[in-house]
Amino acid sequence: MKTIDITQDSEYLQQYVDLRNLNHKFLYTGLVTLGETKEWLNRTKVFIVGLVEDKLYGIGVIYPQKCNEVAIFSSPERLGLGGLILNAVELKARKEGLKRLFAWTKSSSKTFLRKGYTLQGESIKEYQGERIRGNYFFKELR
Ligand SMILES: CC(C)(COP(=O)(O)OP(=O)(O)OC[C@H]1O[C@@H](n2cnc3c(N)ncnc32)[C@H](O)[C@@H]1OP(=O)(O)O)[C@@H](O)C(=O)NCCC(=O)NCCS
Repeated sequence: MKTIDITQDSEYLQQYVDLRNLNHKFLYTGLVTLGETKEWLNRTKVFIVGLVEDKLYGIGVIYPQKCNEVAIFSSPERLGLGGLILNAVELKARKEGLKRLFAWTKSSSKTFLRKGYTLQGESIKEYQGERIRGNYFFKELR
């Protein structure tokens, strides 16, 4: 599997949108279109790495404007792709000179812990009128 930069590789943008929308409930976001995604990429500084073989299998996003928050998603799940995505995210973050990554998750804490993220505590996110309790993590990049 190779790593690509989705922001530089428009061939995979539609697959990125599909994968993101497939996972939107786990990411606590709404659905987006390809057009909205292109506009968002034009006006936002964001890093997006993708794991590709015959198609796109996994994504890692780093949001510099949100304290370098990391979001990861894949299909299928439970193949160890989460760990591979976090490796690619870390490589990209180091290349960009980032010093610290942040993550919030309700159900993927083990994946982040395995990759050396440190649990900081619990916090609540509001999503569609519900209060979702999750864990937040930091990883210092030295
Ligand atoms: C988060 C996500 C990318 C993790 O992917 P994943 O491949 O399931 O995660 P991991 O790499 O940690 O592997 C998870 C499990 O797969 C199992 N596994 C099965 N085959 C494996 C293999 N060949 N290699 C490694 N692990 C394997 C592991 O035992 C592990 O189980 P455990 O967590 O009970 O110990 C994925 O679950 C996902 O897309 N979730 C929806 C979006 C989401 O919630 N994102 C997190 C918030 S940002």
